[in-house]
Amino acid sequence: MKGKHIVIGITGGIAAYKTATLVRLFVKAGAEVQVIMTPNAREFITPVTLSTLSGRPVISEFFTANTGEWHSHVDLGLWADAMIIAPATASTIAKMANGVADNMLVTSYLSTRATVFVAPAMDFDMMKHPSTVRNINMLRSYGNHIIEPADGELASHLVGKGRMEEPENIFRTVEAYFNESKSMRGVKMLVTAGPTREKIDPVRYISNYSTGKMGVAIADAAAAQGAEVALVLGPTDVRPQSPSVKVVNVESAVEMLEACNSLFPDTDVAVMTAAVADYAVKNPADKKIKRENNASPQLEFVKNPDIAATLGNAKRSGQLVVGFALETDHEAENAMSKMKRKNLDMIVMNSLRDAGAGFGTDTNKITIYTPGETPTVYPLKSKREVAADIVAKIASMIDARAD
Ligand code: C5P
Repeated sequence: MKGKHIVIGITGGIAAYKTATLVRLFVKAGAEVQVIMTPNAREFITPVTLSTLSGRPVISEFFTANTGEWHSHVDLGLWADAMIIAPATASTIAKMANGVADNMLVTSYLSTRATVFVAPAMDFDMMKHPSTVRNINMLRSYGNHIIEPADGELASHLVGKGRMEEPENIFRTVEAYFNESKSMRGVKMLVTAGPTREKIDPVRYISNYSTGKMGVAIADAAAAQGAEVALVLGPTDVRPQSPSVKVVNVESAVEMLEACNSLFPDTDVAVMTAAVADYAVKNPADKKIKRENNASPQLEFVKNPDIAATLGNAKRSGQLVVGFALETDHEAENAMSKMKRKNLDMIVMNSLRDAGAGFGTDTNKITIYTPGETPTVYPLKSKREVAADIVAKIASMIDARAD
């Protein structure tokens, strides 16, 4: 981060107090930080705290009142290597999405050519409102990076999604953006994530508890390292933060396989994190199965294709295929036999016996197996950090092959 010019925009949300830590992290890492506050933000944290931490006067008006000095939003926009809006309230997000340039922060945002990171923070009903969802999606479509808020207790005491991501994680996201590893740059990566849905009739399906968080985090981590990522995503609300990840939405295992088959020839590394349903219903009804007519419907199943094994066995020299193994017992044995059977180059094992690992959690604990190497055991970490570890391991395998 040394010498990087970072503009940190603060808006009027309770999380504004945490942005003092964010400013400090950037300054400690050698960056030059310019803070811009909206007028409302000054109600939540004082400019004195931020100017002391950043070593620069905080800007929040177009003019300094007593001297009449004009602050050029254009110059500031051009000076920045990155602009981070944290916390970003629903109102500032709406202004940014629609070009309502009525304060210094939004004017600088509209003038900048720098990469923009937005860390929303608001109450969870506001976060879910269609207007917020639409505005955030608009920012994504402009190429801005959205640093998703976390789940937890909010200022209203309601519990849900809306807490600003912790300053350390915001810092890490921006740092990873600047520290793109050479080995991942331009690597074409295919990631599968989420569950699949297997139709019973037009209104019912069989699925599983996967949320897709792990795979989406891997897609983001690889994109942050410069990879070109295609994410084949089963039905889930989880979305990648990086605007460069190309999402292909699918529903069933067969659709997931078709999407993977068409992407695989142009793929360098395939990472199979999806929890693919093992079976599909043989003859899904084309009309809703009625309770009255059918005392107890008998479902017949057919085995779904094994996507990881299909790609593992189809790979040409130079392509890497990485699988996951979620185990409940005989972890090492099962993981290694899967790696062999599916012809994988690496398998990431997580065990449901470890607290904090598995479906739906924000954390995971993994062990990575590669053929002929001692497995690497990692401690419990957030799924984002686990994703960074997996991408780092993939990068080291790419390096080893290049030697
Ligand atoms: O055999 P098991 O389901 O435990 O294997 C898990 C690994 O295989 C994961 O990487 C998963 O994404 C992949 N898989 C797949 N297609 C299936 C079943 C599993 O790609 N039908």
